[in-house]
Amino acid sequence: MPLTGMKQILPHAVAGGYGVAAFNPVDYNSAKAMVDAAAALDAPVILQTSVKTVKYWGHAACAGWIKELAADTSVPISLHLDHCQDLDVIRGCIDHGWTDVMIDASALPFEENLAMSREVVTMAAAAGMGVEAELGRIVGVEDDIFVDARDAHLTEVDEAVRFCRDLDLAVFAPAIGTAHGYYSGEPNVAFDRIEEIHRRTGKPLALHGGTGLANDVFAKSIARGCAKINISTQLKHAFIDGFAAYHRDNPDDYEPLRVIEAQYEALLAVFMDRIEQFGGGGQGSLILAA
Ligand code: 13P
Repeated sequence: MPLTGMKQILPHAVAGGYGVAAFNPVDYNSAKAMVDAAAALDAPVILQTSVKTVKYWGHAACAGWIKELAADTSVPISLHLDHCQDLDVIRGCIDHGWTDVMIDASALPFEENLAMSREVVTMAAAAGMGVEAELGRIVGVEDDIFVDARDAHLTEVDEAVRFCRDLDLAVFAPAIGTAHGYYSGEPNVAFDRIEEIHRRTGKPLALHGGTGLANDVFAKSIARGCAKINISTQLKHAFIDGFAAYHRDNPDDYEPLRVIEAQYEALLAVFMDRIEQFGGGGQGSLILAA
């Protein structure tokens, strides 16, 4: 079936109290494993390309693979762009049929962030697309964006209310104490802040930095309004480890398709596990019927 935007998927997740997994595909094999995991579990899934990935393969290739994979399934699949500061890349996504894009102008002062995010919301709305925007600073490295712990700060609730009132967002990304990449210590997730931001903005929230969080952290965040749960670093590890483990166990096998298949199986297991953990199983057909 055709791709489905986050504006259709995420309100259903909020109402149903579950989270939609958002994974970063890096190639056709990883995108296929994401779509197959969603189809096997009758779950919605968000494929969010990183800017780096789009620049490496090109907009047409990324959109072509993902639209073709979605066309063979009957579950809702969004094609989203993760953290982007480059309006040309966003324009390319609009031209090539992404359903959603994220503008990350969170490094800018509030008014400039708002103005740049507004520009993207206006561009996207004309194409019927949804937008994710960020306020506050999420620590860690994501794509080419690095935020040092000293510069990280949680989103202020009053600013979040104003930001979300001025912008028609599909999903809002606040900084709530999570971090991109693996955690070196125990993350200090601000559950009260999540609850208050969701209650006062009325927006579905994105949980960034999902790799390495404990299952009860996901459950508590989802119960307080996080409807989109981002996982990237865990996929990168499964991607490399799946490939390397096969070669370690079969050092004389130089048939690439068997290595690719082993990598696919490793990725599929991770995606199915995460989708089920967030409660997305069985929700795909319910979204489409709603
Ligand atoms: P992790 O790499 O920590 O899973 O975070 C992913 C993310 O938030 C993508 O925007």
